[in-house]
Amino acid sequence: MWDYIFSTLLWLCVCTVILLGVYVHQTYKYWKKRGVEFDQPYFPLGNLNFLMRKSFWDYCMHLKERFPRDYVGIYLGLKPALVVQTPELARVVLTKDFEYFNNRYLYSNQSDPLGALNLFTVNNPIWRDVRHELSPMFTGHRLKLVTELMNQNSKELAKKIQRDFVEKKKNVNLKELFSMYTSDTVAYTVFGIRVSILNDQPSPLWFITSNMVHFTFWRGLEFTLVFLMPALAAFLRLKFFSEAATDFIKKMFWSVVDERKDVRNPNDKDLVNHLLQLKENLKLPVHDHSDPEMADKLMLAQAAVFILGSVETSSTTLSYLMHELAHHPEEQETLYEEIRQTLAKTGGDVLQYQELMEMKYLSACIYETLRKYPPVSYLDRKCDRTFTLNDDLTIEAGTPVFLNLLAIHYNENIYPEPKRWNPERFRNVADGDNLNYTFLPFGEGPRFCIGKRYGMMQVRAALAKIVEKFRIEPGEPYEVPTDPYSVMLSPKGGGTVKFVPR
Ligand code: HEM
Repeated sequence: MWDYIFSTLLWLCVCTVILLGVYVHQTYKYWKKRGVEFDQPYFPLGNLNFLMRKSFWDYCMHLKERFPRDYVGIYLGLKPALVVQTPELARVVLTKDFEYFNNRYLYSNQSDPLGALNLFTVNNPIWRDVRHELSPMFTGHRLKLVTELMNQNSKELAKKIQRDFVEKKKNVNLKELFSMYTSDTVAYTVFGIRVSILNDQPSPLWFITSNMVHFTFWRGLEFTLVFLMPALAAFLRLKFFSEAATDFIKKMFWSVVDERKDVRNPNDKDLVNHLLQLKENLKLPVHDHSDPEMADKLMLAQAAVFILGSVETSSTTLSYLMHELAHHPEEQETLYEEIRQTLAKTGGDVLQYQELMEMKYLSACIYETLRKYPPVSYLDRKCDRTFTLNDDLTIEAGTPVFLNLLAIHYNENIYPEPKRWNPERFRNVADGDNLNYTFLPFGEGPRFCIGKRYGMMQVRAALAKIVEKFRIEPGEPYEVPTDPYSVMLSPKGGGTVKFVPR
């Protein structure tokens, strides 16, 4: 009897293993059958077996170097995904045929409302309405108001550098320093609250933002799966924003709203009133029956994504800017001269919106940094309806389509000597020009980064203040590894330089 049970179980196991083997073998033939060159996958992670050892940024660089062609097939676990690598295909996917590619692949699950309903993750039809309502929050007029707040914080930033890194000679962790600056700024611009972690004052927001930018092994894994293996993330109920962050954002938002009611403060500089307005204006399934809190969740989700969007990407950009300027003293002096002359012309102690916008070399240094170190190394889209890419390839509905930015930003034919940091490449580039889809750090098409001008201004204000006050010298070797736990680019260990007062 036991022999019979044992041999039946054994056969069942053997059959399961054989069937699984056949299934995996067939699945991993997907790209070969379609004649698309592909990166060799290994069960069960497909091409993601580097995770937590190498960053996705490094993997994009590997694809660019190993497969110098228009597109390449990869496997996210068992899911075939297409990676496109040219400006021409970028134009097709991001803009020309956007109607086929208007959603992202990353996971959004209703158990994590702030993660599921924010502009970055939310799918159509909600995305279109939310984007329409949010766009007026980022006009030139509003940006001018916000620049004043950024300038106040950039002064605080310079004071902190003087206090901690010049006088007390502490070690500089660039990523942390700039996350403090962007955190203080977003507290002011989104919630209207004046906090100063830069000034060592307790900041309610720093509690959330410091966790957002510090990727431990587990947080890194969670976030990576949300982006790259969304089905598994949904099964494991992983979250885009942690529970603690979600509770905190809710509490903070409603306490600010309550305070406003008391003092009848019609503050228009921050986004609180605009977000409340958004709730009123959305003509969505939100006011409907199923979830009475849907409108609130949608509104808070936007506050949450603005926090993440402002803190993470701008602090990375500023960190790499410091690193490159430290290793390029000549370029640093050119930038210093531009800042000094502009300040002398205006006679003030900070540069206002218009001057910051007009400083060509300042912008060129930022653009070149965003070319060499785009914080988001790939743009994520999902093919919603079967799409004929060319005579050879039809993309099936449901296929993730990623645009590898590094394949374009490091293409020798577009940017000779691509590993060289050279702001001259961008000396006369107009603000917002994608240079024929060869410069895409903010994405492009209807789903491009909504905070692009805000992010640029935040970086401009801090950069101008720091270079005016300090000489930046190298604090570590030129080659800095990327943080393997972070989906977005981040220097391992945060990056460091030395600040010397001018
Ligand atoms: C240096 C700064 C920044 C960089 C490099 C950056 C980069 C990006 C990129 C590459 C995308 C994807 C675009 C696409 O798929 O075509 C994106 C989307 C987005 N970014 Fe940014 N970003 C920055 C700053 C900001 C800021 C300051 C905010 C918020 C105020 C923000 C909020 C968003 C949002 C909400 C989306 C989703 C847009 C949508 O799907 O409609 N970003 N960003």
